[in-house]
Amino acid sequence: MNEGPTQKADAAVARNPGGNSEAADPPPDIIIRLTQVEKSFGALKVLRGINLEIARGEVVVVCGPSGSGKSTMIRCINGLETINGGEIWIEGKRLAAGRFQRLNAKVGMVFQSFNLFPHLTIMQNLILAPTRVLNLSKEQGLERAKKLLARVGILVKADDFPDTLSGGQQQRAAIARALCMEPEIMLFDEPTSALDPEMINDVLDVMRGLAHDGMTMIVVTHEMGFAREVADRIVFMDDGQIVEMANPTTFFDNPKEERTKRFISKILTH
Ligand SMILES: Nc1ncnc2c1ncn2[C@@H]1O[C@H](COP(=O)(O)OP(=O)(O)OP(=O)(O)O)[C@@H](O)[C@H]1O
Ligand SMILES: [Mg+2]
Repeated sequence: MNEGPTQKADAAVARNPGGNSEAADPPPDIIIRLTQVEKSFGALKVLRGINLEIARGEVVVVCGPSGSGKSTMIRCINGLETINGGEIWIEGKRLAAGRFQRLNAKVGMVFQSFNLFPHLTIMQNLILAPTRVLNLSKEQGLERAKKLLARVGILVKADDFPDTLSGGQQQRAAIARALCMEPEIMLFDEPTSALDPEMINDVLDVMRGLAHDGMTMIVVTHEMGFAREVADRIVFMDDGQIVEMANPTTFFDNPKEERTKRFISKILTH
């Protein structure tokens, strides 16, 4: 027999007879954990003891001045950079220290510069990794890709080459390509900063939809309207460290640290 909502509620009460709803909440399912992560390029210390835990389904916006280590942090999470100290755990598995990772199919990444293969059509871009890495048949790949292209609103561009698409369309194709691997986590590194203003919202809309559907997301962006509306938490980095971390309301309306205040006033007056 399926456990219906009433049985579930009854079972929760039985486990927690005092009825204290706080105690009945399950512990958060931590999908990404960074402890004391350090990264240097030669003598330059770029990440200096990063501690961060992200729960499944959480949307975390990362912001901070240029050079503060935002891209490096998410590249480390995706295994594109090796770390020099600390630990990174993804879905309960520790990334091996000191060496590059095999492509992690659970983590999708979208870059500022789209990074589509120029000699492949949009459809070929989408089905390449699923057919090679996940061993999907071409038919399965095509079916999955069509659904995703429809979802991001560019199914009509399936057989076109990337350079015939607008920047916003290319970025939506890049998001669809990442989703084609059915990742558990999506990392975005300034996905809208190379786009003309009128295209930004189309991309943000796709990201809003993903967040709404429960995707775990880390988004490096200075789109503060998006951050306020969509983020569960905002992380402010400066000089290789996390200076402040708070929900959007607290972050924007009541930041604690001087450095955060200065940064917010700068970006909001831009
Ligand atoms: N491959 C590399 N080799 C050497 N130094 C690097 C490398 N990648 C990044 N850095 C340096 O690490 C520091 C942090 O860079 P990172 O790209 O993470 O910053 P960021 O916060 O993403 O900045 P931005 O907002 O400009 O994108 C910078 O000083 C940068 O020059
Ligand atoms: Mg960057």
